[in-house]
Amino acid sequence: MTESILVTGATGTLGRVVAERLLAGGHRVNVLSRRSAPSGTPYRWHTGDLHTGAGVDAAVAGVNAIVHCATTMRRGGDEAATRRLVDAVRRSGSPRLVYISIVGIDRVPFRYYRAKLAAERLIEESGLPWTILRTTQFHDLIVAFSAVQRRLPVTFALRRVRFQPIDVREVADRLATLAVDEPAGRVADMGGPEVREEREFARLYLRAVGRRRPVVPVRLPGGLGRAYRDGAHLTPEHAVGTITFEEFLRSRYS
Ligand SMILES: NC(=O)c1ccc[n+]([C@@H]2O[C@H](COP(=O)([O-])OP(=O)(O)OC[C@H]3O[C@@H](n4cnc5c(N)ncnc54)[C@H](OP(=O)(O)O)[C@@H]3O)[C@@H](O)[C@H]2O)c1
Repeated sequence: MTESILVTGATGTLGRVVAERLLAGGHRVNVLSRRSAPSGTPYRWHTGDLHTGAGVDAAVAGVNAIVHCATTMRRGGDEAATRRLVDAVRRSGSPRLVYISIVGIDRVPFRYYRAKLAAERLIEESGLPWTILRTTQFHDLIVAFSAVQRRLPVTFALRRVRFQPIDVREVADRLATLAVDEPAGRVADMGGPEVREEREFARLYLRAVGRRRPVVPVRLPGGLGRAYRDGAHLTPEHAVGTITFEEFLRSRYS
């Protein structure tokens, strides 16, 4: 059945693929973005802002479901944005709200994660039908850790910290399914196919882009470092992703 679905963050790494998947599935896809509509967009485009609230009521009006992928690193930003969204959704009726979250946000003491945990709570207590999916880090983020250092003579990688990255295409497939399914509450976490140390991912990335650099371990101090070294952000028991980091690199760089 064709549904009308709003994707927030549809210009971002994940949301872009979610919107493509939903469109390919025959749904009417609405987008909320701070940018103006690119010419020829196949989406019903709403220019607005989850921080000021501009355009949010219009974007949620009449939709059957919302996949909330918008995010910001601004302090408390995701909590405030999610509050705006939930308030607007409540005024509009009761579409299903599907939220993408991160494995371990309740165990890793990181400011960004605190805001995401608060956003999860707002959704759980909203009285709206909801689904929350937590995943591990995306391959793109692991690449970004090394890519931002491209002007340095060495590449730093966190010492004794492992990651279990997942491909956004697999996360987007899951979210597109959850968007049309009955609301399911907190669904099973989703992790990538392999757990490896960050320095190994850094070396694979450097090889893929043909850059020769020593990879230098750096210790992340404090509770944040401890939580990452303990693997509080990993979910090896839910290693359901199938696209490995090396396969992702091949699809992007060769
Ligand atoms: N990256 C990871 O490794 C990872 C892992 C697990 C879960 N997640 C979660 O997945 C979600 C998507 O992450 P991502 O990496 O795809 O994000 P991203 O690429 O940084 O994209 C962020 C999106 O948020 C939108 N946005 C930011 N501020 C906004 C505002 N004030 N109003 C409306 N839209 C706003 C941006 O749209 P415009 O600029 O067009 O307005 C953009 O489309 C996040 O919730 C993140 O926590 C990420």
